[in-house]
Amino acid sequence: MSFKDQIIAEKLPLHVAIIMDGNGRWAKKQGKIRTFGHKGGVLAVRDTVEGAAELGVKFLSLYAFSTENWKRPRWEVDALMELLVDTISKETKTLMDNNISLQAIGDMDSLPPKCRRQLQDTINITSANTRMTLILALSYSSRWEIVNATRKIASQVASGQLKPEEIDDEVFAKQLCTSFCPDPELLIRTSGEHRISNFMLWQIAYAELFFTEKLWPDFRREDLFEAIVDFQKRDRRYGMVNEKQSDDQHA
Ligand code: FPP
Repeated sequence: MSFKDQIIAEKLPLHVAIIMDGNGRWAKKQGKIRTFGHKGGVLAVRDTVEGAAELGVKFLSLYAFSTENWKRPRWEVDALMELLVDTISKETKTLMDNNISLQAIGDMDSLPPKCRRQLQDTINITSANTRMTLILALSYSSRWEIVNATRKIASQVASGQLKPEEIDDEVFAKQLCTSFCPDPELLIRTSGEHRISNFMLWQIAYAELFFTEKLWPDFRREDLFEAIVDFQKRDRRYGMVNEKQSDDQHA
């Protein structure tokens, strides 16, 4: 039976987040430069987005460019930004055809103006689409986001709008870039690395983690389906006990 056939529609994760990793190694294995891997990664993005929408996942987040990625060689950063602009522009029609809206999280001010403009255009054009929201994390890092949120809350306290004792999880989460969506229930990382790399640290508090050896350009919707099948087998307790364990203790 295919992974897709094993998926229980009623138990789909509402939000899946992916750390796309391994583009450089994929290119190197073929004797090519790193940007070849990023181009290969675009095909994986396309197939994964379509696969997620086809299943009925409501939010799909992709870690496309981290704050740390600015430290890569200039030619690679430029090529990545170019590829992003190009892909977002070309895929706007696909997003419209599939009723998918685009959102971006991260430090938009640090992106090249051309990239910011293209993103904003596609975000605006797709804003009424309802089937799925694709969230691109660009110039994003979780610590940056948390520090930013803390600053906003501190200034609300300083101006008397908010009392320190009123700060709770909900108040804090409202100041994060992801305030418009639920937390991811499933986080996937490709390329065999078992790290979170500063991605959605607050939001993945209760997420299930799935690591695969596949390099990102080789990732396809079947791999997403495999991760979801695995997710559906997990016993999600959020720090509580499940009914079976609780019954056993009382027996
Ligand atoms: C990680 O691989 C990948 C990235 C930093 C960029 C991801 C970008 C894309 C897939 C291209 C376009 C994306 C969209 C959303 C249109 P790496 O370079 O860190 O690989 P390595 O760990 O093997 O060096």
